[in-house]
Amino acid sequence: MFSAKMPKGFLWGGAVAAHQLEGAWNEDGKGMSVADVMTVGSATQPREITDGVIPGKNYPNHSAIDFYHHYEEDIKLMAEMGFKAFRTSIAWTRIFPKGDETEPNEAGLEFYDRLFETCHKYGIEPVITLSHFEIPFHLIKEYGGFTNRKMIDYFVKFAEVCFKRYKDSVKYWMTFNEIDNQSSFNNDFLMATNSGILFTPGMTDEEKEAAMYQAAHYELVASALAIKIGHEINPDFQIGCMINYSPVRPLTPSSDDVLLADKFEQRRDWFSDVHVFGEYPKEVEAYIVRNGYRPDITDADRQALTEGTVDYVAFSYYQTTTVSSENVKPDELHDLAKAIAKNPTLERSDWGWEIDPKGLRIALNHLTDRYHKPLFIVENGLGAYDKVEADGSVHDDYRIDYLRSHISEMEKAVYLDGVDLMGYLPWGCIDLVSAGTGQMDKRYGFIYVDKNDAGEGTLARSKKDSFYWYQKVISSNGEDL
Ligand code: BG6
Repeated sequence: MFSAKMPKGFLWGGAVAAHQLEGAWNEDGKGMSVADVMTVGSATQPREITDGVIPGKNYPNHSAIDFYHHYEEDIKLMAEMGFKAFRTSIAWTRIFPKGDETEPNEAGLEFYDRLFETCHKYGIEPVITLSHFEIPFHLIKEYGGFTNRKMIDYFVKFAEVCFKRYKDSVKYWMTFNEIDNQSSFNNDFLMATNSGILFTPGMTDEEKEAAMYQAAHYELVASALAIKIGHEINPDFQIGCMINYSPVRPLTPSSDDVLLADKFEQRRDWFSDVHVFGEYPKEVEAYIVRNGYRPDITDADRQALTEGTVDYVAFSYYQTTTVSSENVKPDELHDLAKAIAKNPTLERSDWGWEIDPKGLRIALNHLTDRYHKPLFIVENGLGAYDKVEADGSVHDDYRIDYLRSHISEMEKAVYLDGVDLMGYLPWGCIDLVSAGTGQMDKRYGFIYVDKNDAGEGTLARSKKDSFYWYQKVISSNGEDL
């Protein structure tokens, strides 16, 4: 298997998001976020998004793995693995519990002071996402989430407070996690988590798509304004965008399939074009104008987009996408889900996610060719069931195989293809609540946490086999896979 040492200063580490591990959902003044109204689901049962917290329902994010009270122990374990960087988010509702207050919640700010101090004690660089599926529920109910232009101000204020408070303790930032997820506008979970939009029953696809383009526009403007302010507060800040990148390929060589693959990319991958270039790509602009979507765009917005471009492109990589024109012709493409086909050459995880290590090298090459910017892998990994042996060990060789093959492809991209890569932060370095299903038993971690889907367990932390393997990868700077 190919391996190579990564450049000096390469940020090896791991990634999480506040709502998926902190717990303490209503402690120290924290408000209710969209994640707090999502029930537990499964591989086949979607999570329910309830109208507020309903007694008797299981909301796994409320207590999660209680990182809020275990962070010192957890960061110490990450340090033992040799982490150079740790990605998490700042829960918006710890800082602005409802989202539209004039003053931030001091107790929330203090928690992150302590967290970042602990990271630095171990030489770990915090990498911070501002909005990772944690929009205050009040902003959703009262303002309709990002369908409302006022959300730009609320987000920018939240960002500015964080930038000022953590000016000297955080260097690497990202504005919106996987902002491109909402291109699947028919998916209620993705619309709620990306944009705080709860569709009313009976809305047509066209109305949903229109709402998505307007909301995404406000988010992109909010991101750009925040980036501009961030760079003024500390010119050394590195502020990136964050996309869910999944290289697209046609199922067959037919021109319809190839054109459909192009159209699919144009409809999904334009978000990062706006972040990087400060303007909408031609095809999407034409599509939006032709369909009458995104009616509210001003000259000031367009100016803001050009003044708040990103320093780097961060992305998650889990799988590639294969499309077929059997169900939808290229010029009829609206609902992306209709184009997706099963790739017969790939194996799948227990949750049906296709496993394609070479896709990571393809992703790194595509993004480099397109953007000429430093890249940052801030999510990658395998969600799997783990079995705890009688002696407490977890032999997760399947996870090691997955990560090893992906890291090898990443190293080819850096060493052979010349990709400028800042670091590798695999997802869910400690077991946490799955975003998509709300499960604990869909595990990604190097560190096992004793808690199951029903919410039972001692919360004890223990090291899986992958813990020792990743420790070796980091200490050899990627050479010993
Ligand atoms: C990404 C998200 O989509 O994938 C994470 O940024 C999420 O929040 C991760 O947890 C894995 O998805 P899931 O559904 O397995 O948790």
